[in-house]
Amino acid sequence: MTEPQQPLLEAQNLSRHYAVQRGMFKPPAMVKALNGVSFTLQRGETLAVVGESGCGKSTLARALTLIEKPTGGALRINGTDVADASSAHLRALRQTVQMVFQNPYASLNPRKRIEQMLDEPLKLNIKAGKAERRERVAAMLNQVGLRPEHAQRYPHMFSGGQRQRIAIARAMMLAPKLLVADEPTSALDVSIQAQILNLFMDLQQSTQIAYVFISHNLSVVEHIANRVMVMYLGRVVEFAPKATLFTQALHPYTKALLSATPSIDPARRANKIRIVGELPSPLDPPSGCTFHKRCPYADERCSAEVPELRPIGGHQVACHHVERIEG
Ligand SMILES: Nc1ncnc2c1ncn2[C@@H]1O[C@H](COP(=O)(O)OP(=O)(O)OP(=O)(O)O)[C@@H](O)[C@H]1O
Ligand SMILES: [Mg+2]
Repeated sequence: MTEPQQPLLEAQNLSRHYAVQRGMFKPPAMVKALNGVSFTLQRGETLAVVGESGCGKSTLARALTLIEKPTGGALRINGTDVADASSAHLRALRQTVQMVFQNPYASLNPRKRIEQMLDEPLKLNIKAGKAERRERVAAMLNQVGLRPEHAQRYPHMFSGGQRQRIAIARAMMLAPKLLVADEPTSALDVSIQAQILNLFMDLQQSTQIAYVFISHNLSVVEHIANRVMVMYLGRVVEFAPKATLFTQALHPYTKALLSATPSIDPARRANKIRIVGELPSPLDPPSGCTFHKRCPYADERCSAEVPELRPIGGHQVACHHVERIEG
């Protein structure tokens, strides 16, 4: 009998609230940067997280990679509740989950040669002699499309795309099971973006690594994702397999995001919806459904009652009116 496969990662009602000072005599306000997010991620899967600036994508990335503790909810990696893990166990989990950041100009130490940068995680974490480590660094450079002689160079000698390859190589050195990539192509020229996306896909083919791939741009995740999670002001509004999300988005916000993404085939786009108004301040989010002030379908219920995420037609959607909105 085969055991049911344990998910690589489970987030349950994950939250991260920040206290923000508003002035000397006012009590601090709470920003609910991440406000009760739940999902599971299987091995080798790519989950894309999309949403406008400030919806909590990077906050989620920091929680998943154990850079920052959540203020509520639970996170399990390989079945281990992170909150209960011993420090030795946490160290092991940190090797399992790695991160690639948006800006490859800021994320690489300018004073270190590439070889030293890629060797560091090996030196600290595995028992291997210098020769073996050197070989592993060379193999990884090759895997990310760089040449052996690049090992002796410094970051400033590389283009943005090459730097992102180096950052990816560094994250991959200890063979992680999950890579969280936070807008990894948005600082790059459009012509380079596709190459880096292809690299992510090649690496997944050869290593079965899972990705949480964060972007504000739906067209970027169109090829790479298996499932897509759409966030709005710290909450998930829609969660669906990629194919159905792009062809049959259900939440008005997802439809609006798709309408605003010109590179996506118009014939496949859901009914056009234009978002009206500004993104509300996260310090003072609207009551009920936080999207209601910008939503063409909103009524009194939407301003009063927070919609729960519920399963509809293979999607999960947080909207009171999905059933009456025309596809
Ligand atoms: N350390 C912090 N202290 C206070 N507020 C914070 C902190 N970090 C994030 N926030 C707030 O939490 C919310 C979510 O921020 P986050 O950076 O996660 O959004 P994002 O989706 O990554 O946005 P972007 O697309 O601009 O990168 C924002 O309102 C932000 O101002
Ligand atoms: Mg961000």
